[in-house]
Formats: sequence, C-alpha cells, structure tokens
Amino acid sequence: MTLAKATRRMPEAAPTPQNAENVPVTLEVVERDAELLAYLQMGDDYLGAIGYTEHGMRHANLTAHIAGNILRRLGYDERVAEVAAIAGFLHDIGNCVSRADHWISSAFIAQGALLRLGMDFADVAMIMNAVGNHEEDASDPSTAAAAAVVIADKADVHQSRVRTLDPVDFDIHDRVNHAAKRSFLRVDSDTRLLTLELDVDTSETQIIDYFEIFLERMQLCRRAATVLDARFSLVINGTKLL
Ligand SMILES: [Fe+2]
Ligand SMILES: [Fe+2]
Repeated sequence: MTLAKATRRMPEAAPTPQNAENVPVTLEVVERDAELLAYLQMGDDYLGAIGYTEHGMRHANLTAHIAGNILRRLGYDERVAEVAAIAGFLHDIGNCVSRADHWISSAFIAQGALLRLGMDFADVAMIMNAVGNHEEDASDPSTAAAAAVVIADKADVHQSRVRTLDPVDFDIHDRVNHAAKRSFLRVDSDTRLLTLELDVDTSETQIIDYFEIFLERMQLCRRAATVLDARFSLVINGTKLL
C-alpha cells in the first residue's frame, strides 16, 4: 500500500519559525555542509577499517544524482526529485555511528542537520522515511523518494568501490564489485522501465556470485519500481536476467 492511500491528511499545522522560513534546502547546500561531511567521512573510514567497500562521498553523490534523475525522468515534481536526491546523499551517513541499523541512525542524523539548515518539516519527514527504508534488511519503500533511493543505492555496483588491494584478499562483495566494469541505470520515460545494465568481467567472478549477494537487493528494486508505477529489469553482459 502506498503512503498516500494508507493515510489521511493531518489538520493544518500552526506556523513555526522553522516552517515560516520555508528555506528550499538543496542538494548543493547539503553536500557542502561541514557537519554532514564530517559524519560521511567518519562512516566511510569506519567501513573501510572493518572491510567494507567504499561508502563515502562518491557513493553518496552518485546515489543522490541517480535518485533525483529517476524521478525527473519519470515526470515527478522537481522538489520531490530534489528531496529524493538529498535522501540519496544522506542514506548511509549513519555508518559513522555503526553499520548495524545504520538506516535508523542515518535518518536521525539527517533530521538534525536538515532542521538546522532550515528545511521544511514535511521534506525532512520525507527524507527520514526514505533513508530509513533503503536496506533490504528492513525496507518497505512506500514513497517516490524512498523507492528512488533504494534503486539508486543498489545500482552502484562498480570496481571503483573496492578498497582491498590484493585480489587474493577479496571477499565476495569485493569480487562482484571489482568484476563490474560498467554499471548504468537506464530510465525509459515512455515505457517506465528502469534497467540496471552491468558489464561484468566473468573471468573475475561468476554471475552466480552476483546473485548470491544481490538477489535480495534486486527483489527490493522490483518492489521499489512498483511504487513508481514502473518496472525494474537487470541486464548483465547484454543478457536480460530479470
Ligand atoms: Fe546503506
Ligand atoms: Fe548505500
């Protein structure tokens, strides 16, 4: 069930200084914020130390831009697309606290910073919800922003995310990411088809490895696409697998 169908409108809220300002906080403002950048850096350093792939500025920026573009190409309102982009930028910021339940800590870190920046409460709420529903462990996207963040996040499979230097030390995540030489999310506005295109070097990994760690993610992407009244498809080395 989508959020719109599941809820009724709240009564008109009293204006508050925060809402009265109604500052249109943009992705550009958020991605230059010193506090948020410090948290993002800590989260990426921490994940590097415990053996995860890159989750820093590159991943945050890419997720932000893909999420915003998905919604723009599917004809959503520009502000909704911008809100999704901001959620995409912030979705993993809670890794600075802990990897466990980082979607929850991400939501509350985002809330604090966005309120400080003067963002409209409704936009903050939308971002908290999108960030809190981005991982397959605990995700049930019901808004356009949440769905776009899920798909954008899971589309980032690429060799540049691997930090392990020696292939001998690669785990399955390293192997699959390192073998992905190109990843591209194609959004067809007319047919509303979202296709994740991957070029995978099969001398480095087998396609079955990809499915071992990504099957759940792809299922989540399919669910997310339905929220956008769209379909999700996966093409690896030119072959349609989903
Ligand atoms: Fe995450
Ligand atoms: Fe992520």
